[in-house]
Amino acid sequence: MASPTSSPKSSPRRTFAIISHPDAGKTTLTEKLLLFGGAIHAAGEVRARGQARRARSDWMKIEQQRGISVTSSVMTFERQGITFNLLDTPGHEDFSEDTYRTLTAVDSAVMVIDAARGIEAQTLKLFEVCRLRNVPIITFVNKVDREGLGGFALLDEIADKLALDVCPMSWPAGMGGEFEGIYDLARDRLHMPADDATGAYEGRQEPVSGLDDAKLEGLLSEQALAKLRDEAELAQGGYASFDLEAYRAGDLTPVYFGSALKDFGVEQLIEALAEHAPPPRAQPAEPREVKPDETAVSGFIFKVQANMNPQHRDRIAFMRLCAGRFRRGMKLSQIGTGKTIAVHSPLLFMARDRELADEAYPGDIIGIPNHGTLRVGDTLTEGEELRFTGLPNFAPEILRRVRLADPTKTKQLRNALNDMAEEGIMQVFHPSIGSQWIVGVVGQLQLEVLISRLQAEYKVDAGFEPSPWDTARWVMGEAKVIEGFLADHRSAMAEDRDGAPVFMAKDLWELSYVQQRNPDVRFAATKDRR
Ligand code: G4P
Repeated sequence: MASPTSSPKSSPRRTFAIISHPDAGKTTLTEKLLLFGGAIHAAGEVRARGQARRARSDWMKIEQQRGISVTSSVMTFERQGITFNLLDTPGHEDFSEDTYRTLTAVDSAVMVIDAARGIEAQTLKLFEVCRLRNVPIITFVNKVDREGLGGFALLDEIADKLALDVCPMSWPAGMGGEFEGIYDLARDRLHMPADDATGAYEGRQEPVSGLDDAKLEGLLSEQALAKLRDEAELAQGGYASFDLEAYRAGDLTPVYFGSALKDFGVEQLIEALAEHAPPPRAQPAEPREVKPDETAVSGFIFKVQANMNPQHRDRIAFMRLCAGRFRRGMKLSQIGTGKTIAVHSPLLFMARDRELADEAYPGDIIGIPNHGTLRVGDTLTEGEELRFTGLPNFAPEILRRVRLADPTKTKQLRNALNDMAEEGIMQVFHPSIGSQWIVGVVGQLQLEVLISRLQAEYKVDAGFEPSPWDTARWVMGEAKVIEGFLADHRSAMAEDRDGAPVFMAKDLWELSYVQQRNPDVRFAATKDRR
C-alpha cells in the first residue's frame, strides 16, 4: 500500500538493469543484490516470482495480477551511501518492446552469463540494444560452482560474439567440483567458501600482497593454487587492462566470476557498480542534450502499465528523471500536448512495496498514476520545450488480424488494443483497405498474453487470424516520394497509432524486392517515438 516515506537523500545514483538469457541466474542474482542491499530480508522473495514466471500459465496469471509485476519493475536499494535503482527486464523467452525500452532508462547494465553456456540468444539481443545506446556493461559469469566452459573460453566468446574488449577483474580458483574460491585481481584478495556445510561465502576473504604471496599456500590446495597462478597471469597479460573510459563508452566490459546461488562475487559486483558504473548520464534530447545537474526537472516516460488493479482503470506511467530535484505535487508540462500534469502521488518502487515519493533525483524512476494521459515516449518538463529522443518502436516480427467474436464489442476492443499498445507490449496497425485491426508483436508469447488480457481485463472475446503479411516497416522519405509509394502499394499499407505510414510485407524477400525498386524510400525497422 502506498504510504509516505522519508525522502531519499540526494546520494549518488546507479540506475541499471540486468540482461541475461532465461535460467542464467538473473532472479537469483537480483535477490542477492537486494539481500546484500538490505532491501529484502529472506531468500526466496524474488525467487518465488521467478519460478512462477517460468511456467507460462502462472506467468500470465501474474501478469493479470498486475500488482506483482509492477512492484518489481524497479527495485531500489542502498549500499555504501549509494542508491541503486535496478530496473527489471522481463525474463521470459519472448521479447516485448517493453524490455527494450527499459534499457533506454538505465545508465548501465550487468550482463549475467551462465558459465556452462556462454553467450546465449537472448543475451545477445539485449546486448545489441545496449550497444545502440553505448550502455556500459559489467559482465558477471555465474554458476562457477558448476562445471563451466573455463575462464579463457568464456572471455574469448564474449570478446568474439560481442566485439568488445574484455578485462578479467577476478579469476576462479577451479570451477565445479574443483572450485575453491575466487581471486580478486583488482584488489588482490581471495574469497573462499565458509567452512560450514552451506558452502556459502559468508564474508570469508583474505587480503594478500599478490598472486605470489606465500599466504595463498595455506588457503588453497597445491594444485588449485598452481593453476590459479598460471591462469591468472595469462589472463592479466592476454586481455585488456581495465580502462574506465573504455568501459563507460561501451567498448570494454570488466568481467567478474561468481555464483549468485552461493553468494560468491555478489559483493564484488556491488562494489564494481559503485566504483565504476556511471552516475546518471546526460540524455539525448531535441533541441539540446539534458545534463543531470540542471536545476529544472525533466524526464521521459519509458513504460506505461495499465490495469494494475483490475478493479480500477488506473495506469502507472514510469518516468525516468533526467534532471532537477523532483518534489511531490509539482506541476509538469507534457510536451506536445500543452497539458499540465500535477503529480500529487508519485510512487517510488521498493523491493516489495510502492511508496509515495516526496522527492526524487536524476536517475530515479517514479511512477505517475494517471488515466491514460501519459504515453510511452512523452517528455515532461517544468515548461521548456524539450523532447527526449531515442526511445524506439521496433518492427514487429509477427502480424495477425484480430477477429472479434462479438461484433458489438468493437469499441471495447479498440480501447483494449489502444491501452496495450500504449503499454508497449504490442503495436496496432490500421490497414488502408479493410476494417480489421492488425496487431504486431515481436514474440509468440505476447499473442497469448494479449488474448488472455482481453478476456480478463476487458471482457472481450477475440482471436487472431493469420494475416497475409509477416513483417512491417515504417516508410520514410520525402513527402512526394512517400505519396507515390502509398498510391502504388495501398493494399499493403497501414497506419500506426500515430498515423505514420507502415508498409507490410509478406516476407523479408518481398521487403528487399520492394526496397530495391524504391531506392528513395527508407524502410525503417525502428521508429523513434520521442
Ligand atoms: P533466471 O532468472 O535468469 O531465469 O534464473 P534463476 O535465477 O531463476 O536461476 C535459474 C536456475 O539456476 C535455478 O535453478 C537457480 O537455482 C540456478 N542458479 C542460479 N545461480 C546459480 C549459481 O550460481 N550456481 C548454481 N549451481 N545454480 C544457480 P532451478 O533448478 O531452476 O531452480 P531451483 O530448483 O534451484 O530452485
